[in-house]
Amino acid sequence: MDPADMGDDLERVLLTEEQLGARLDEMAAQIDADYAGRDLLMVGVLKGAVMVMADLARRLHTAVEMDWMAVSSYGAGTTSSGVVRILKDLDADLTGRDVLIVEDIIDSGLTLSWLLSNLRSRGPASVEIATMLRKPEAAKVEVDVRYVGFDIPTDFVVGYGLDFAEKYRNLPFVGTLAPHVYGD
Ligand code: IMP
Ligand code: MG
Repeated sequence: MDPADMGDDLERVLLTEEQLGARLDEMAAQIDADYAGRDLLMVGVLKGAVMVMADLARRLHTAVEMDWMAVSSYGAGTTSSGVVRILKDLDADLTGRDVLIVEDIIDSGLTLSWLLSNLRSRGPASVEIATMLRKPEAAKVEVDVRYVGFDIPTDFVVGYGLDFAEKYRNLPFVGTLAPHVYGD
């Protein structure tokens, strides 16, 4: 899809496909350097991290393992409660592994901080985080994130894995939606 395919549903493009790709090149180079000679397990958080996992992993110069987890926050509404339920657990045993959690976006940080302590309790050698996007002003908990694509404003964004009501994940760019899409 390109911005024209969105018609008037698109408010504006925040990050183009080219900008995302250029930043992914840099992140991949950093990860390659940091994990040189080690055996990396990348853990993607479904569904949002599908795009960043695919694009980041393909840019690396070492063969990595990829595994997936699906989690959901308890509680209604769009705000994260920090209480998390595992919908799909990892296949891999984390004992002694170097783990890199791959995320689409860090908003309040509550989901990720829960995930971090959950994975750390499984005896890995290390756990780090890579996220394409982060909203620094929305942070409710401090999470130490090793690799950040872009810091963005607190506005709701879609595309590049991120959805509104399960749609727009397949946009190759990140953008904001026109108010009428939300039913306002
Ligand atoms: P939190 O960091 O625990 O608040 O929750 C992060 C999760 O909320 C992400 O993994 C997304 O699934 C979702 N999320 C947060 N901000 C946005 C957004 O702007 N657009 C789409 N989903 C979002
Ligand atoms: Mg996510």
